[in-house]
Amino acid sequence: MKIVVIGGTGLIGSKLVNELREHGHEAIAASPSSGVNSLTGEGLADALKGASVVVDVTNSPSWEDAAVLTFFETSTRNLLAHEAAAGVGHHVALSVVGTERLLESGFFRAKMAQENLIKGSPVPYSIVRATQFFEFVKNIADFSTDGNTVRLPPVLIQPMAADDVASAVGRVAMGSPVNGTVEVGGPERFRLDELIRLGLTTRNDPREVIADPQARYFGILVSETTLIPGDETRLSETRFENWLTQGARPIHNPDVQQVKAQRR
Ligand SMILES: NC(=O)c1ccc[n+]([C@@H]2O[C@H](COP(=O)([O-])OP(=O)(O)OC[C@H]3O[C@@H](n4cnc5c(N)ncnc54)[C@H](OP(=O)(O)O)[C@@H]3O)[C@@H](O)[C@H]2O)c1
Repeated sequence: MKIVVIGGTGLIGSKLVNELREHGHEAIAASPSSGVNSLTGEGLADALKGASVVVDVTNSPSWEDAAVLTFFETSTRNLLAHEAAAGVGHHVALSVVGTERLLESGFFRAKMAQENLIKGSPVPYSIVRATQFFEFVKNIADFSTDGNTVRLPPVLIQPMAADDVASAVGRVAMGSPVNGTVEVGGPERFRLDELIRLGLTTRNDPREVIADPQARYFGILVSETTLIPGDETRLSETRFENWLTQGARPIHNPDVQQVKAQRR
């Protein structure tokens, strides 16, 4: 199958393109650096010609409330319109577990808008909701850092490796549309403060992590189970401690290497 990965140069996208190619598919890594822009529509018609599946693993360059909403709404509308015109039979999008419980944040309001546009479109679809990536641990810490201190609520979190997210999205993309949502999550639950402490300590980061029930997660008030996936979740294999000691698999996507070389 020809499978176009919009955001195919990103963290998940580049791994996904490899995965799909390993399974013998013609996977196209599409992004602004390769002349395909889902926000402006540039290059979409050409990229989607003859495609069976489009996977959206883009992210907005800005997380400011209005900018992120414009990004996901406009980009999703453009993709779905071009897919309908090109006869694409499956739209797959990556979203986040618990999105409807995180709407205090503009980023998650934008992800919710993205999901709703997909559900309202005639293009058959699958939405994959993943939990937080292991690779995201430092971002969580950085957002909640004040001086040498990181304050986080001790709520539950069930993170997973980006490699496993890409595999899960790939399996869905290679299958039939579910016209619904699939949740994927990591094999273990942690307390948020415990996870971040483990991640920082392993990397010799001197910041002190404090469990503070009043602290917020990215500015959002969260409860014990806000970030946790439901009972039907497909669990991934990689454990955080193994990932920390072994490191993530290197990216071998030739498109990405080429783009990076061009940027140098
Ligand atoms: N972080 C988490 O823990 C987490 C958890 C669950 C789900 N997610 C979701 O996973 C998705 C992918 O995240 P990621 O970390 O892999 O993202 P990322 O590494 O930031 O990659 C973003 C990709 O989007 C592309 N892009 C940006 N603007 C574009 C445009 N106008 N048109 C086409 N492509 C565009 C980028 O292309 P260039 O390289 O050319 O700029 C890049 O390929 C996001 O939607 C996020 O919400 C994240």
